[in-house]
Amino acid sequence: MSEKKIIIAIDGHSSCGKSTMAKQLAQKLGYIYIDSGAMYRVVTLVALRNGWMENKVPDVAKVIEGLKDIKITFQWDESLGKNTTFLNGENVEEEIRRLEVSENVSPISTIADVRKEMVRQQRENGVNKGIVMDGRDIGTVVFPDAELKIFMTASPEIRAERRYKELKEKGLDVSFEEILANVEGRDRIDSTRAASPLKQADDALVLDNSHMTREEQLEWTINKVKEIIEG
Ligand code: DC
Repeated sequence: MSEKKIIIAIDGHSSCGKSTMAKQLAQKLGYIYIDSGAMYRVVTLVALRNGWMENKVPDVAKVIEGLKDIKITFQWDESLGKNTTFLNGENVEEEIRRLEVSENVSPISTIADVRKEMVRQQRENGVNKGIVMDGRDIGTVVFPDAELKIFMTASPEIRAERRYKELKEKGLDVSFEEILANVEGRDRIDSTRAASPLKQADDALVLDNSHMTREEQLEWTINKVKEIIEG
């Protein structure tokens, strides 16, 4: 592929495989991959560590004050074949994926000043282009001029089914109904919050992967990239 580098914004519902695809795409293109959700998770981790959250309610003033001491970086881990997230140089990749963080990240990500700072840092990563970023507001807010915007989705039932299988394989005792309720609940929160709700950018291409394999969706996306780069 030619040397022209572009910005690729991938937004969409939770549990529809955005980060898996974004990672594969970045690897294939030799681009930087930024998981914007990980950044909101890092802020949440800091809030939890410092006791700035009580019953999922953040002390907004303290969280905002704390932002100036948070430096988030990413490093590609060749041996694990995945991105690693660092908070002020400390590897927090495992910790930010824990359930406690997942359960507290939503209220943190609705704080407008938190979003402002995350968006500022996200844009810094894109100054040289050659970047794939996934999240909820990448094509609408962070990079409204991204050359390629993809809005990924799949039916709630299919996403719940995939998640159910994953958790069952890990030996967890879960029911399909509770997972479906969780998927639908997160869709509702993401789409209806006041600050940067999840919505499809007008110029985004919709990728409904309900009936696609990972290979098929990667190929679909690579073809779109080629169309843009080779114009
Ligand atoms: O993609 P994820 O599940 O790791 O995201 C964690 C949370 O952060 C999720 O509740 C949605 C929120 N988020 C956001 O508000 N904006 C983004 N660009 C990315 C994630």
